[in-house]
Amino acid sequence: MDMMKDDPRFMLAVLFLCLFLKTHICHGADRISGNQTLTGDQTIVSAGEIFELGFFKPVNSSKYYIGMWYKRISERTIVWVANRETPVSDRFSSVLRISDGNLVLFNESQIQIWSTNVSSSGSSSVQAVLEDNGNLVLKEGSNNSRRILWESFDHPAHTWLPGSKLGYNNITKKNQRLISWRTSEDPAPGLFSLELDTSDNSYKILWNGSVQYWTSGPWNENTKIFDRVPEMRLNYIYDFHFVSNNTEKYFTYSVKDNSTTSRFLMDVSGQIKQQNWLGNGWNLFWSQPRQQCEVYAYCGAYGNCNEESLPFCNCVTGFEPKSQSNWDIEDYSVGCRRKTPLQSCGNNSTSGGGNGERDKFLQLTSMSLPNQSLSAGSAAQCESTCLNNCSCTAYSLDDNDCLIWIGDFLDLEQLSEDDGTGRTFYVRLAASELPNPKKKNGVIIGVAVGSAVGISVFLCLIVFVILRRRKKIVKPGKTVEGSLMAYDYRYLQNATKNFSEKLGGGGFGSVFKGTLPDQTVIAVKQLESFSQGEKQFRTEVSTIGTIQHVNLVRLRGFCSEGAKRLLVYDYMSNGSLDSHIFREKTSNLLDWKTRYQIALGTARGLYYLHEKCRDCIIHCDIKPENILLDSQFIPKVADFGLAKLVGRDFSRVLTTMRGTRGYLAPEWISGVAITAKADVFSFGMMLFEFVSGRRNSEQSEDGKVKFFPRWAASVIIDGGDVLSLLDPSLERNADVEEITRVCRVACWCIQDDENRRPTMGQIVQILEGVIDVNLPPVPRSLQVFVDDQENVIFYTESSSSQSSQTRSNTSTASSQAKSTTSSKNSLS
Ligand SMILES: *[C@@H]1O[C@H](CO)[C@@H](O)[C@H](O)[C@H]1NC(C)=O
Ligand SMILES: *[C@@H]1O[C@H](CO)[C@@H](O)[C@H](O)[C@H]1NC(C)=O
Ligand SMILES: *[C@@H]1O[C@H](CO)[C@@H](O)[C@H](O)[C@H]1NC(C)=O
Ligand SMILES: *[C@@H]1O[C@H](CO)[C@@H](O)[C@H](O)[C@H]1NC(C)=O
Ligand SMILES: *[C@@H]1O[C@H](CO)[C@@H](O)[C@H](O)[C@H]1NC(C)=O
Ligand SMILES: *[C@@H]1O[C@H](CO)[C@@H](O)[C@H](O)[C@H]1NC(C)=O
Ligand SMILES: *[C@@H]1O[C@H](CO)[C@@H](O)[C@H](O)[C@H]1NC(C)=O
Ligand SMILES: *[C@@H]1O[C@H](CO)[C@@H](O)[C@H](O)[C@H]1NC(C)=O
Ligand SMILES: *[C@@H]1O[C@H](CO)[C@@H](O)[C@H](O)[C@H]1NC(C)=O
Ligand SMILES: *[C@@H]1O[C@H](CO)[C@@H](O)[C@H](O)[C@H]1NC(C)=O
Ligand SMILES: *[C@@H]1O[C@H](CO)[C@@H](O)[C@H](O)[C@H]1NC(C)=O
Ligand SMILES: *[C@@H]1O[C@H](CO)[C@@H](O)[C@H](O)[C@H]1NC(C)=O
Repeated sequence: MDMMKDDPRFMLAVLFLCLFLKTHICHGADRISGNQTLTGDQTIVSAGEIFELGFFKPVNSSKYYIGMWYKRISERTIVWVANRETPVSDRFSSVLRISDGNLVLFNESQIQIWSTNVSSSGSSSVQAVLEDNGNLVLKEGSNNSRRILWESFDHPAHTWLPGSKLGYNNITKKNQRLISWRTSEDPAPGLFSLELDTSDNSYKILWNGSVQYWTSGPWNENTKIFDRVPEMRLNYIYDFHFVSNNTEKYFTYSVKDNSTTSRFLMDVSGQIKQQNWLGNGWNLFWSQPRQQCEVYAYCGAYGNCNEESLPFCNCVTGFEPKSQSNWDIEDYSVGCRRKTPLQSCGNNSTSGGGNGERDKFLQLTSMSLPNQSLSAGSAAQCESTCLNNCSCTAYSLDDNDCLIWIGDFLDLEQLSEDDGTGRTFYVRLAASELPNPKKKNGVIIGVAVGSAVGISVFLCLIVFVILRRRKKIVKPGKTVEGSLMAYDYRYLQNATKNFSEKLGGGGFGSVFKGTLPDQTVIAVKQLESFSQGEKQFRTEVSTIGTIQHVNLVRLRGFCSEGAKRLLVYDYMSNGSLDSHIFREKTSNLLDWKTRYQIALGTARGLYYLHEKCRDCIIHCDIKPENILLDSQFIPKVADFGLAKLVGRDFSRVLTTMRGTRGYLAPEWISGVAITAKADVFSFGMMLFEFVSGRRNSEQSEDGKVKFFPRWAASVIIDGGDVLSLLDPSLERNADVEEITRVCRVACWCIQDDENRRPTMGQIVQILEGVIDVNLPPVPRSLQVFVDDQENVIFYTESSSSQSSQTRSNTSTASSQAKSTTSSKNSLS
């Protein structure tokens, strides 16, 4: 093959083919060597066809760059760029080749615009090889004594690939950095970077190379994690290493299962992100800072960041985007500019927009203040202090102190009204930008009211009242798509007496009780975090609205106004299941028959969600809090479809699904697609709790039973006293066969390997007694994963005892389960 490559006839044939087919893989080779060149649509491909290198252009740009991307991933994902700041416009007359022992990019005028820039012997044996790990390596010498002159791993762009190092080299004194792209269309170095701080071995994210807004905390050699990244303990799919000695300090990682494509990048959003490819898209696995508004100066000068609005950035009143085209591509860093110049200071003309009036101040409440304030005397004179300083743009009061801001202010954030830390911020504006308080005019009108005016005012009032009435009747809103109502926010505010009676606070937001004018009782859920705009929200909600089943809570309607998103449900008079099975007092005791019926009803509801409705829906948050009971104790699954509304990111799952810990299936952290089997796992965990009457995550009162599922399995398998498993409050009043059945199916459900878990359909059949499960698999020794507050996140079988000891007859549930396993993924 190598001989053939050197054969000129072969080369000519290849060249001809290339011209003829215009194929992208022209060299078909993994290297550029000797006299070879790369130009136009030609690319080189790593030996295992993992990475590809050649010219590319960002979608809406007209400029070309030499870049590296994944060969097999359908979504073009650039992981490295050579000439970040020096693009070319004609890729056919530009060329990448070896020149004087370096890999050099020449532009249209054959002028060198990028080079590996190493001093070398200029030997002709230099080659640039693209390796399967995404490293482009410049080598010199014969096969046996290759010397590495330069490698792209030492010069990362914004992506950090598995196997490469990110750190400091004490010999070259070079500190590597990941630097974000300037915008999604421009790979030039942007404002956000990640680098190692060698003083305390922590990684820091910096804005414009100076202002730090996130740190990993120092590396802790004992716990092998960075102090402020406790989730590193969940090293389920990655192996991390930190090396620190006098020669070098670096952090590196690898993916345990190397069939997973994973990358780590400094994103244009100012967040570092870890993503895994799931076959149809990049799945966000982890990111920091979690909140967009924690990114320093994300919205630029005079921008206002609001975590609850979409987009996150807005200009402060009186300002407008400095560059609308940048804002359109979500690049807010350019910030905002004044619509009307300030009046005062050196401008003694009336050219400022204030018609000669002095500048005024706009009052913004519940703000997180920008960082760079100056202390300026007493609070009483604060406003005039600011007015008298030409460069003062804003002030705020801090007890008895006056804080002023000089020049552009960055990093202003709107907090929610009930956030206790919010402060009031006064922004200086030209007087004409502020709505004039019409006090004086009011007095004049008052004096001038004549009888004619009086009558017309009276008429207006009548019309107003009628309109209001009419509006009130119309208010519940028009019917949209099916039977859903679009409610008015004010209407729901009235119905819930201004959200005064809280029923509960779930993972997605708080729920309030309300009463409609016709005395129907409703439950109103205020969504706290959602990732979608209005249109998508309506689409999603109307899908949820079409799903109706006796074991699912019915969605009656919704409200979507501004940044507010509410869902209106039927009210369930017996509350949620947790209050009945984990109760303190023995009233409300659910007897065994009722528990069994609740288990069966819940299974039917989930079966319907997974397999019977038009689009398969994975609930993602099955736990007793989400099983509601109506007046007849019929179970109704709540909150289905919401996981989609809040987005599919794992980091969101962890932050938004509070109280979910203990029910999450291990694949949540494995970076693979979530299937309906994740719900099966959670359902299994919950079944054990039906039996024991306590949370699996708690030890028994006498401390003897640490993990109930394991104990239950051993009692069933050893033919022990099944009734001893039962919630003591039930005083052994239960059907032994039913308890056995529930424990068996629960054991099937909580297996690590999702393919072994039954489907919801099989579970329904088992609980109905139609099919039977013999001996369950024993939950093996389980690892407990905890988060930074030491709360249990989930359990998984420890990998040390991986060998299966299923003594059971797997022919029923397991084999069928395999055949029905599909990668339905409602989250994508
Ligand atoms: C490269 O070109 C030079 C002169 O043009 C020639 O001597 C040399 O053999 C060529 N090398 C290869 C690998 O083709
Ligand atoms: C490219 O521009 C078009 C039209 O302006 C826009 O719809 C599209 O979202 C842009 N694509 C990217 C990746 O910015
Ligand atoms: C090539 O690069 C040089 C140096 O940067 C520049 O002066 C020249 O205009 C470029 N040629 C073209 C065609 O862009
Ligand atoms: C190339 O390296 C030399 C020193 O080795 C340095 O002076 C020069 O600035 C470098 N050029 C570029 C473009 O990095
Ligand atoms: C380099 O290795 C290839 C096979 O990997 C071999 O065909 C070739 O002859 C070697 N060249 C030298 C100079 O050793
Ligand atoms: C970043 O810092 C440089 C000086 O280091 C400064 O000139 C530039 O204006 C800063 N960029 C922004 C957006 O503030
Ligand atoms: C606040 O601003 C100063 C510079 O004025 C900067 O050094 C510091 O890092 C900033 N802090 C944060 C948290 O942005
Ligand atoms: C530093 O650590 C690296 C990686 O473990 C090792 O290759 C190197 O020899 C070490 N250097 C010293 C001086 O210990
Ligand atoms: C670099 O090496 C020198 C001595 O070789 C040592 O004193 C210094 O602490 C090292 N610096 C770092 C950041 O490790
Ligand atoms: C994955 O790793 C194993 C063991 O390290 C190796 O044998 C295999 O070739 C690797 N597969 C890929 C696709 O890199
Ligand atoms: C003074 O007025 C000019 C022109 O109206 C304007 O460009 C400038 O920004 C103003 N100066 C100040 C300090 O507002
Ligand atoms: C203010 O206006 C007067 C007269 O129009 C002019 O002479 C003076 O230079 C102006 N002052 C400033 C600071 O622009």
